[in-house]
Amino acid sequence: TNNDPGALLEIAVAIARRAAETARTMRDQAIEQVDTKSTKTDVVTEADRAVERQIVAELARLRPGDAVLGEEYGEAASSARVRWVVDPIDGTVNYLYGLPQYAVSIAVELDGSPIAGVVRNAVTGAEWTATRGGGAWRDGRRLTGSTETDLAQALAATGFGYAAERRAHQAAVLAGLITRVRDIRRFGSAALDLCAAAEGLVDVYYEQGLAPWDLAAGGLIAEEAGLLVTGLNGAPAGTRLAIAAPPALHRPLHDHLAALDASGGP
Ligand code: IPD
Repeated sequence: TNNDPGALLEIAVAIARRAAETARTMRDQAIEQVDTKSTKTDVVTEADRAVERQIVAELARLRPGDAVLGEEYGEAASSARVRWVVDPIDGTVNYLYGLPQYAVSIAVELDGSPIAGVVRNAVTGAEWTATRGGGAWRDGRRLTGSTETDLAQALAATGFGYAAERRAHQAAVLAGLITRVRDIRRFGSAALDLCAAAEGLVDVYYEQGLAPWDLAAGGLIAEEAGLLVTGLNGAPAGTRLAIAAPPALHRPLHDHLAALDASGGP
């Protein structure tokens, strides 16, 4: 097997394009909320499941020995070095409402760390990619993130989880931060938020409670665009907290979030 990041990215991109097409086509037909997960508003649609099944089936054909971790169906035990981390539809609430901000996110990990990733907006077709050491790209253009250096002038994206206790804590953090930045955006897809930060469409992004499939591809894309992607106090970005910011904004944002206990709470 070829574990070259470029070769793996090519597979990820081809699969993501077909998956995005399936998601969009299913949206044009009947949309059904079929189930809820952690809370009543944490929905899963038939499309989430169908798209993930399609991705898993294509991977089984193209990369039969690899492991796959997906949002809807989880992971089968495996000792493979290569693992695909898949969010079939990131931005499921937008999908449900027909808001054009949902994406397919596919990352490829080698020995536990991402080496390639793609995020594709299923409506607009905008596509962000990265390979470890190879830079981050959108539709053939290399990404370098925002050049803003003053947090007070920075546009910050964030998101909220589905559980009430977590959301209350997130709202308190937001209340503390909103007077320190230019403004806040909540677009509804963590993967697209990370790509927006990579592209400088927002200056920074942070969120508590992300799952691996929300973060894996977009996190690599942001890093390869030159952003620092971390947790608090030297911790890696993860479920407790993910901050993505250009170097000049990372320290001030990190310190505000630390003072607001952004990685604490339920
Ligand atoms: C959610 C979105 C949202 C973020 C949540 C995620 P889903 O993923 O990325 O922007 O705020 O934390 O759970 O449920 O749409 O796949």
